[in-house]
Amino acid sequence: MQIIKHIIPLRDSVEALRNGAAGRSAETVALIPTMGALHEGHLTLVREARKRVDHVVVSIFVNPTQFGPNEDLDAYPRQLEQDSATLEREGVAILWAPDVTEVYPEGFATNISVSGVSENYCGAARPGHFDGVATVVCKLFNQVRPDYAFFGEKDWQQLAVIRRMARDLDLTLPHADHIHGVPTVREEDGLALSSRNRYLSPENRQRAIALPRAIRRTADRIERGEDVSASLSELKRALLEAGFSSIDYASLADATTLEPLDTRPDRPARLLVAARIGTTRLIDNMPVAGSHDKPAP
Ligand code: PAF
Repeated sequence: MQIIKHIIPLRDSVEALRNGAAGRSAETVALIPTMGALHEGHLTLVREARKRVDHVVVSIFVNPTQFGPNEDLDAYPRQLEQDSATLEREGVAILWAPDVTEVYPEGFATNISVSGVSENYCGAARPGHFDGVATVVCKLFNQVRPDYAFFGEKDWQQLAVIRRMARDLDLTLPHADHIHGVPTVREEDGLALSSRNRYLSPENRQRAIALPRAIRRTADRIERGEDVSASLSELKRALLEAGFSSIDYASLADATTLEPLDTRPDRPARLLVAARIGTTRLIDNMPVAGSHDKPAP
């Protein structure tokens, strides 16, 4: 695995991968953007990508522009050596690990803001966050120029923002249709894997199981045709009773536009929740089947 820190050698190396071994050409390349502190969720992305493409590039870049003034950028876990050994074992071809000055050179003045899909949910709770994500992901796409990109579905809103951005900007490497979401990887008890889980005390780790359970139960209720607003109120009540201190949002939304839905969906929908337990903010989401999924009579 090559570890690359500058754009020119990155471009040369990706080009060499694309040209392939002697006699082959146009080999495919996938990018998995990460901020490091890798866990099984990231490795699942790598394994999925390796099934579908010839070469996998993983980026590790703790992107300062997606952290708010009250969010501790310095406290974000950094473990490049350990992550790079893990990626090497997983058969990754290139680890792209630029410094901040490589990504945001002096005078950097461009911002990509995706309206609509960015605005509610985590976008409302973390102003500017998705501008930072969209801008850095667009840059990572332009730096690596991958045929495909893979993201975890756990950050459903992030995935929706990135797909919208790729479509709106007519990106071709990767094309919006080649931006794949990979289902959330969960602990055995259902908690979604996240680098934030390490901040949970043992008691709160135990209580946190209430989050995926409440989402599953609520999705089932909505799928059975129960009232959406009553089901969401019951979800919030269950989380507070389980020991969560506050709920940032709990909403049923169109899976693509993220427009809130207040009745049983007739199109692909997602139940999205963010809630705080102790000092940790957890997010999770699940699909909700609707009337469109009913087998034809
Ligand atoms: O999901 C993440 O780790 C980050 O938001 C991403 C996509 C790597 C952009 O910095």
